[in-house]
Amino acid sequence: MPAHTPETLAILEARTREHYETFRARGLKLDMTRGKPSPEQLDLSLGLLTLPGNGDYLSEAGDDARNYGGTQGLPEVRRLFQTMLQAPAEQIVVGENSSLALMHDCLVWALLKGVPGGSAPWSKTPAPGFICPVPGYDRHFALNEEFGFRPLPVAMTDDGPDMDAVEALAADPSVKGMWCVPKYSNPTGAVYSARTAHRLATMKTGAADFRLFWDNAYAVHDLTPTRHAIPDILTLCAEAGHADRPFLFASTSKITLAGAGLAFFAGSPANVAWYLARVAKRTVGPDKLNQLRHVRFLKDHDGILRHMAAQRRLLAPKFEAVLAALDRHLGDLGQVRWTRPEGGYFISVDAMDGTARRTVELARALGIALTPAGATWPGNQDPNDRVLRLAPSFPSVEAVRVAAEGIALCIRLAALEKLRAA
Ligand SMILES: Cc1ncc(COP(=O)(O)O)c(C=O)c1O
Repeated sequence: MPAHTPETLAILEARTREHYETFRARGLKLDMTRGKPSPEQLDLSLGLLTLPGNGDYLSEAGDDARNYGGTQGLPEVRRLFQTMLQAPAEQIVVGENSSLALMHDCLVWALLKGVPGGSAPWSKTPAPGFICPVPGYDRHFALNEEFGFRPLPVAMTDDGPDMDAVEALAADPSVKGMWCVPKYSNPTGAVYSARTAHRLATMKTGAADFRLFWDNAYAVHDLTPTRHAIPDILTLCAEAGHADRPFLFASTSKITLAGAGLAFFAGSPANVAWYLARVAKRTVGPDKLNQLRHVRFLKDHDGILRHMAAQRRLLAPKFEAVLAALDRHLGDLGQVRWTRPEGGYFISVDAMDGTARRTVELARALGIALTPAGATWPGNQDPNDRVLRLAPSFPSVEAVRVAAEGIALCIRLAALEKLRAA
């Protein structure tokens, strides 16, 4: 913002507060906290509920999908998702309905049993370190906290994490892993560049059993006609002599049904054998009826892309509404910046330093629930009190439009309050 005299700042603040109070009088009740699909998005997958249909419960190989067995997942499902996952079908495992649960299991198994290439379970390392690009996904950080990992924040850039910082941290033998959301990252929308992926695949790690937790949650979740491609991390790591470095995760939570989709693990042959050995103790077999449903509903990779184009038509106007409100109300505040994601589920706002908490408080008073300030940092501690994560997917477009106006006003008011107090 251009330098203002105390008088003009006072006028700007008074005007914004008046606008804010008018909004408050509307008695809104809107929720922009979590990146959940809307009911209309879920309706796109209603066809799943009548499948497999016609009493045809047999898999391609003639196995009865209603029965036990098939720990790795039906081959036809693994083939259906191999392009999306950038992994050959033999190196994919189909889990149940949540990729977060698979990440949880991998962390627990690594701690208790160790992983291929390691000489001891991770729990033998006191407070093992985990690299956390920030801002990042709160539930990743919650897993670290749950199991006693030492979070190591590194800054995100438009190309992925700050790789100089990552390489320096990874050289420490007590650092065991790193979170990566390589495409349309939560919450900034960043897409990892070829250079970033190459450095991740080739970097020297202090721990021989270091793992990239490559959480490709938004692999096909474009918000524009451009389908960004990300590097094939499995091949890059194998070529660099680190075939076991990546653990790949993804799910159909935001493709089909968020509570009743399919989750995937993929990795090197050694990692897949390790995973299957563990999971075989945990279950007598996954829900293969749901797997059959997904094959018959989505059919092939083009079917996935067509389905995602329909999702985009519902989601894109909501993102546009938020961006329009931010542009309109905050364009003149130089210290406030926001992302313009081309995919994924979030817009990340860098509010003026020291105002994110105040913004959330102001929004609450308007009846708009926002993700708590700090949630995108390990331990909920954003050292600059700066980042706000906006999740426009769930409410209707009309509600998003209203909420976005309100949120932009709150960001503006908090910034003007801060400038006035300075
Ligand atoms: C980066 C990321 N990973 C994983 C998940 C959760 O995925 P799932 O529903 O497969 O557990 C989310 C949900 O918001 C996410 O943003």
